[in-house]
Amino acid sequence: MSSEGHAQLLVASNRGPLSIVAGEGSDDDEVRRGSGGLVSGMQAALSASPDAVWVSAAMNDRERVLARRSPGGRISEVPFVAEALHGDFDVRMLPIDGTTFRNAYNAIANSTLWFALHRLYDLPTQPIYDASWRRQWASYVRFNQAFADALAEAAAPGAHVMVQDYHLFLVPRMLRRQREDVRIGFFTHTPWVNPADFGVLPDDVQREIVDGMLGADVLGFHTERWAGLFRETAQSVLGVDAPGVRVFPLGTDPDEMHEQAGRRAVDSQLRLLEETVGDRLLIGRIDRTELSKNVYRGLLAYREVLRTRPEWRGRVVHAVFNNPSREDVPAYREYTARIERLAEEIVDEFETDDWTPLLFEISEEYASALAIMRRCDVVFVNSIRDGMNLVVLEELVLSERDPSVVLSRETGAAEILGDDALLVNPFDVSGTAQALVEALIMPREERAARAERMRAAAVALPPVAWFQAQLDELEKTAG
Ligand code: G6P
Repeated sequence: MSSEGHAQLLVASNRGPLSIVAGEGSDDDEVRRGSGGLVSGMQAALSASPDAVWVSAAMNDRERVLARRSPGGRISEVPFVAEALHGDFDVRMLPIDGTTFRNAYNAIANSTLWFALHRLYDLPTQPIYDASWRRQWASYVRFNQAFADALAEAAAPGAHVMVQDYHLFLVPRMLRRQREDVRIGFFTHTPWVNPADFGVLPDDVQREIVDGMLGADVLGFHTERWAGLFRETAQSVLGVDAPGVRVFPLGTDPDEMHEQAGRRAVDSQLRLLEETVGDRLLIGRIDRTELSKNVYRGLLAYREVLRTRPEWRGRVVHAVFNNPSREDVPAYREYTARIERLAEEIVDEFETDDWTPLLFEISEEYASALAIMRRCDVVFVNSIRDGMNLVVLEELVLSERDPSVVLSRETGAAEILGDDALLVNPFDVSGTAQALVEALIMPREERAARAERMRAAAVALPPVAWFQAQLDELEKTAG
């Protein structure tokens, strides 16, 4: 057994709240906010827990160097990092070696597990489990063990340890083996799949993952649907019930969002956007450059609107904001190039001297995303699958125009917003085009009534309450 530390509350996730990117000189490292739903939600939740420790992975060489230099990997004690951090919690980065990290993150977490949980495979050729994949899987096991060891060492007796997402599926069981006394929560931010789709993974790996997760006392999912599919999978793979499964649908915090969106940088982006959009209707979407977000079919649907309903030409603008993501994975680079090409084709086909049909941006300029959220008349999300899709909730809260929402029925958010959103099958491009038109022509009063109900649903369980609900549940299971 490892020696016990002092932290009462620990969070573990692959990506931490900040990333550090090496600058030209030794003094101009840049600190950026991590992107994605996990970091947004957790960052907000932990800002109310000053004594917490957040354990994450060093994700690049610069972070590995800094983490090795900081005692216990306490990167939050490096002055320029501390300045950028919202909240007083400790951030520790594990300086796991580069090869192990890349195998675990790019090859297993992002190319194998993410693909399986979002059903992104091109089955005639992918996936392939061979000797080289097995070596990558061994890295994933080592990566998980490094987290379990660090948590076992830092946790006080009886501490609460909240482990996050598919990068760390094996951690709950590994930690439980070292520390009987701690309470372990595990939260899955992605969707779950049915046992047949989970069966795309090798049989022993399926068992290891499910058993790894079942090391936790409470297993959280965003929706009943994902929770139910996990229970079925546990039954099918290990023949066991999963009594600790609970549903905690992460929502958004309106005050926090308004504070961010009210910054001067956002106002000036909004003015620029207004110059281009004018009094036309704006369809907005904000994503990472992520295969599961289905931007490709989204652009096809918008093109179909312009092709088949010429009356909309000149009267609508589509703003597509993409935050760069997972650029080390070849499939992501190819996908990004493909959506960029399609966006150019659409602009070439329809642009006129006084109308830009499409604003397509790949950038890290979050202020620009927030400006789109404030201005949009139609919120557009057509993910192939999505654990929640926090962005649609954020857009609902920030749009100054009672937006209508076109939403993939395969998102967790669809369970929360229900029929007030116009729900679409993400593969049905014509059906999506039809829904976009319905969203554009929806009468003002109906739009306002739906938006009001959807906003209430979006803020029902903001991050602090979401996190607290999980801690309360852990307390209950302790009894
Ligand atoms: C999703 C995942 C998170 C992940 C985020 C960003 O929201 O559930 O675990 O952090 O995407 O992806 P990245 O690979 O950049 O961490």
